[in-house]
Amino acid sequence: MASLLFAWALLALQHVHHVHSLPPPLPTFACPPAAARPKFRYWFPDASIPPAVVQADVAAMAAVGAGGLQFLPFYNQGFPPVSTNWSTYGFGTPAFKEVLRAALRETARQGLTFDFAVGPNTAAGVPAVPGTPGLAMELVVGARVLSGAGGSARVGRVPPPVLEFNHAPLDGWVHEPENWGPSEVVAVLVGKVKSRTKKSGRGEVVVLEAASVVDVTSRVKGGEVDWEVTGGGAASWVVVAFYQRYSNERSCVSVAQAPSWVGNGSWMVDHFSPAGAEKVTDFWDQQLLDDKEIDGLMRQVGMYSWEDSMEMMSTLWWTPDFLQRFERARGYSATEFLPAFFQAKNLWNGYGDPYDTTYTFEGEANDGGKYAEDYRLTLTEGYQDFLRQHQKWAADRGMAHSTQPGYNMPLDLSAAIPLVGAPELESLGFGESIDTYRQFTGPAHLFNVNVISTEIGAQRGGAYAQTVPTLLGLFRDSFAAGVNTLVVHGFAYSGVYPGTTWPGYTPFQYEFCEIWGPRQPAWRHLNDTLLFAARTSEVLRTGVPKVDLVFYAWKHPWNARTVYQGAELTAAGFTHEYLGPDNLASTAAPVRDGILAPDGPGYKAIILLGQTKITAAASAALLRFAQAGLPIFIIGQAPNTTIGSAGQEEVSKNMARLASGGFANVKTVPAAGFGPDILRDAGLSPRVQAEALSGAPNATQLFATWRSQPERGFDAVYLLNRGAETTFSISFTVPETSVPYLLDAWAGEQTPIFAYLRTGEGITARITLAKGQSTIAAFTRVPSTEEIPLYVRAALQQRRDLHPILRPPPKLTLGPWRLSVESYAAPAALSTASVSHNLTTLTHPSPLPKLTPWTALKGLERTSGVGTYTATFTLPPADAPTNYTLHFTGRVANTLRVRVNGALVPPIDPAAPGEGRDVTGLLVSDGGGVNEVVVEASSTLFNAVKARAGDVRSVGKGVQVPRYYSQVGWAEGGVAGEVVLKGWRRVVLA
Ligand SMILES: *[C@@H]1O[C@H](CO)[C@@H](O)[C@H](O)[C@H]1NC(C)=O
Ligand SMILES: *[C@@H]1O[C@H](CO)[C@@H](O)[C@H](O)[C@H]1NC(C)=O
Repeated sequence: MASLLFAWALLALQHVHHVHSLPPPLPTFACPPAAARPKFRYWFPDASIPPAVVQADVAAMAAVGAGGLQFLPFYNQGFPPVSTNWSTYGFGTPAFKEVLRAALRETARQGLTFDFAVGPNTAAGVPAVPGTPGLAMELVVGARVLSGAGGSARVGRVPPPVLEFNHAPLDGWVHEPENWGPSEVVAVLVGKVKSRTKKSGRGEVVVLEAASVVDVTSRVKGGEVDWEVTGGGAASWVVVAFYQRYSNERSCVSVAQAPSWVGNGSWMVDHFSPAGAEKVTDFWDQQLLDDKEIDGLMRQVGMYSWEDSMEMMSTLWWTPDFLQRFERARGYSATEFLPAFFQAKNLWNGYGDPYDTTYTFEGEANDGGKYAEDYRLTLTEGYQDFLRQHQKWAADRGMAHSTQPGYNMPLDLSAAIPLVGAPELESLGFGESIDTYRQFTGPAHLFNVNVISTEIGAQRGGAYAQTVPTLLGLFRDSFAAGVNTLVVHGFAYSGVYPGTTWPGYTPFQYEFCEIWGPRQPAWRHLNDTLLFAARTSEVLRTGVPKVDLVFYAWKHPWNARTVYQGAELTAAGFTHEYLGPDNLASTAAPVRDGILAPDGPGYKAIILLGQTKITAAASAALLRFAQAGLPIFIIGQAPNTTIGSAGQEEVSKNMARLASGGFANVKTVPAAGFGPDILRDAGLSPRVQAEALSGAPNATQLFATWRSQPERGFDAVYLLNRGAETTFSISFTVPETSVPYLLDAWAGEQTPIFAYLRTGEGITARITLAKGQSTIAAFTRVPSTEEIPLYVRAALQQRRDLHPILRPPPKLTLGPWRLSVESYAAPAALSTASVSHNLTTLTHPSPLPKLTPWTALKGLERTSGVGTYTATFTLPPADAPTNYTLHFTGRVANTLRVRVNGALVPPIDPAAPGEGRDVTGLLVSDGGGVNEVVVEASSTLFNAVKARAGDVRSVGKGVQVPRYYSQVGWAEGGVAGEVVLKGWRRVVLA
């Protein structure tokens, strides 16, 4: 909008092209389909809840404009509740089936989409008979130093397994693996110790001589090994035994012994074989989808079967055929190298060494070197099979699988993402920078996986503290990386529950944001934000992404960390993302006309920066790219070391050839010299180029995301300004028959850009963006360049009624303001029988000269709720046709709704309240009539909760982290600053 007003002033100066008679670029923009709308993660405590409340909750989501839900039976993260009986109300029980049925029925009635956690809480397990195939397995170790005199010793007793291991504190987060059940010997090794080194923390690293290791497994008889070691002193030998066992880790407990295993809680499944996925899907087929109605509804509204990020624990991840799989894929037996697998890097989230003693081999790093790497490669392949099985099951039922793949585990994220129908990341884990998101979106883009989902909004720091502008900021950052499907974290079951007081069921014991639902004062306004997001998602789901550059990245395969630290590429307009070794080597990465994946992201170059390792297949792919003419930039040291033990020769050969100078399109650049100039010198240019005309000094904080649908002549560019308010001159590389539009995702309007320059390369327009504001430029095509003037003329004729500027138009500051606040508070006495608010209306006694957050007013400081500010005004007489826009000069604490003379003003962007909304059509102008403007502004529920943080209970427990409530001040509510009505003369266009 600001840019349009700006354009009006420029009309006389620039070429004017009007295209009113063209259809708008994206027909579905104003009213996007359900699949493009944000969904809610829907937490409910267990299956004891009334199905009618579930239905009311789903209906509430529909009413606020959500596209669907992610049905998540939370079960208190798997830990027992105060009083409900999970033998009866557990995941998968008959009672659960009724809750599922109710949710599906209402989803169908409301025309929403249905995603469902495949198990309780994070969905990593299902009910099962413990110790049965398909459940999670681990490998554990037992070891003993051999002692004997005279340089020889009999091995003797096989050391028993040590089941206790070092792991992160699990209390209330995930369950401990349980130490019952058999441990089955996989291998017993005897090896000579080369050296022992104290670790900086506790424990030691034992270096084994690889050549000395003897596999004595076949000699085990009755728990004894009949074998003698000799040489080098007996004390320098160890015997190490490896056992596989079910990790016996519950994903959800039961509280009493149930008559059948279905009511006895859930168990983590094996995530490294198809059998683990089948364990889950068989449960669904046999225990839930056996119901005809549920099966039918699932086929009708089911969109994604879903699993959260893997939150589970074991000493070393294992699967029954791991050794065979390893030997097949790696070309050697893992048995003799098993000691090196037990490493911090292979524990959940790289937490620490599972045992105090870790092993490595002579010539390898302390972290197990290439052997531990081969373990991870093999584990990744097992995980890929697990994902394929899930995806196949879902596809056979007309759905797809969605999961937060790979991360936190010793896996290669980039190798997992393409196998998932709707891979999902999360703003909590990837929020470090937009760069980290791009390591996720790259592999999806390359494989034409067009739905990239995010669990968005989770933040530590206290439930009820998150503002809508904060959530909106997370939306916008995600869009900037090409994420296009939002699952808002989350919507909580709204009914009563044992041990739960006002303001209602609050998962995570009040620790995480946010608990959306009708209990929030902002709920009545939230559809504006959701619709804004839906429209932006719809743009970003249309066609294919176009990205200028791709970096090769493998350094942090299991958790994204910023790789390209600079801002220069962004400032120059170059967009980039990342691919891993598996991605490069795949057939999805062809080069045509010097472009990588031309029908997909269309990368113009690949950049090798800060990576030391690469697989043989990926190095061969790079060579192939070079031969096919793709520009390749080697920044500093090229990756020259293989991943795992195989392929060093090929990596060395391929990388040497690549760097040999034999390819004109391959450039080696010193690390310090890398920047956009190097790319420009090689003839590369970005699809978008921006110059900062005022405000920020440059475009380092302007992020562009391009979508293209060539068959429809459609291009769209999402633009986000994370820096200071700036007017940019932005050039878009589009075909010469393109005509530009600006898409207002708040109002749902697609407006031709009034003033722009047509250059040989494309179209240049001026766009002003406030800090944190985003917009969308879109392009549609006319049949030929000759026809552009026709469209211009047609458009001009439509605007004959316009008049020249006569004198400066009027400007009015509105006020004074009357204020009343609808207060949302806890009832005086908290009980578990009701979660309703105590609603009262508080009126500020005197008029306010300007909008003031009510939390700055005496008596209202601690209030949560919705404030209504009212003012009246009359327009000064105008001597020429005038348009009026309404501007807010101050901060919006949470949400804003504005009515003029009773009619709703199109939504105002909380990041840019000063931008102005045209309200001309709503005003009483002639004859001095009185106009009324009503500004409705909300706060979070935080103050109301803070006031009772010591008393509130959810599922029998109070606030987990009191300081999130006690050590922070009262949250602001309402809106600050002046409201200005600006007049604009309508002007002649030609
Ligand atoms: C959003 O909700 C309000 C009432 O809460 C309603 O007036 C408005 O029409 C809704 N907007 C949309 C786009 O559904
Ligand atoms: C890779 O290159 C570095 C730096 O030139 C060198 O030190 C290292 O030995 C090389 N590694 C291999 C495996 O060739």
